[in-house]
Amino acid sequence: MEANKKTIFSAVQPSGKITLGNYLGALRNWALLQDEYHALYCVADQHAITVRQDPASLRRQTLELFAQLIACGIDPERSTLFIQSHVSQHAELAWALNCYTMFGELSRMTQFKDKSAAHADNINAGLFTYPVLMAADILLYQTDLVPVGEDQRQHVELARDIAQRFNGVYGDVFAIPEAYIPKLGARVMSLSEPDKKMSKSSSNENSYVLVMDKPEVILRKFKRAVTDSEGGIYRSPEKPGVTNLIDIYAAVTGKTPEAVEQEFSGQGYGAFKPAVGEAVVEALRPIREETERLLTDKGQLEALYRQGAEKAAAAAARTLRKVHKKVGFVPR
Ligand code: TRP
Repeated sequence: MEANKKTIFSAVQPSGKITLGNYLGALRNWALLQDEYHALYCVADQHAITVRQDPASLRRQTLELFAQLIACGIDPERSTLFIQSHVSQHAELAWALNCYTMFGELSRMTQFKDKSAAHADNINAGLFTYPVLMAADILLYQTDLVPVGEDQRQHVELARDIAQRFNGVYGDVFAIPEAYIPKLGARVMSLSEPDKKMSKSSSNENSYVLVMDKPEVILRKFKRAVTDSEGGIYRSPEKPGVTNLIDIYAAVTGKTPEAVEQEFSGQGYGAFKPAVGEAVVEALRPIREETERLLTDKGQLEALYRQGAEKAAAAAARTLRKVHKKVGFVPR
């Protein structure tokens, strides 16, 4: 590890399919951050089981997500890319940190309140202590920055509070992490209700585009995208649908939104919507193809996730050893 580089850590749950919004808003940036930072990325399968999962689907989605992260440009040689449950230090540190996290703090987590309302029949202890496992993920690697969406900021702040509390008692054991929320990260909105964020949990399949969607499906979804009756191709708060399409086109082509407005000025939605669809198809094509290729090469995939887990475990073990020593466990 180059000593002058800061460490970043992030994770994504394998509890569903990756959307165009996930790709443009997060995963694409993860790949870009690899140059500047010492980067670790994790498929958080242990977080996923806080809500019921079908075992076969979870296994498939975990591998698919792992392959997709590589296909999105995360280089398993330069970064440390691994599956959370393969690195046992995460669960071990989470236990210790549980004892330095207050019931009241966890009760205030807005995501816990939302999720326990959504899964009222299964408000398990894991759902409640989920932010402690997330703190363990982050703190194991002496992380400086945590690239996340706004919805995870409260969890990163809790990780910071736990780290400061622990350091306050025992001295400098953990680096103090900070949320890293890129201002430029594209915020992709729903194609059918453009005032809402694009989300795979929507009941309307036409409202989101999946990274693994076939070209004809992507084109169809963009042709159906909700616009307005005014007709002009420019950004405006009154035109959330068109604004979203301009932003998507700009994000996948690397053009500025102003240049996109110029490119399509005087044209109608009948030309614009398929053009956005085509541009998205071309941006996602190499990712889908590389993911499919990796998924058929089981040997390579296995070698990559084993190598990732080994690298992660070596770093994680150093922090865990320190923690166990500080709290008074007898060395193994
Ligand atoms: N909880 C995050 C989410 O649902 C995923 C996650 C797990 C994570 N551990 C993390 C994100 C550590 C950042 C750092 O999106």
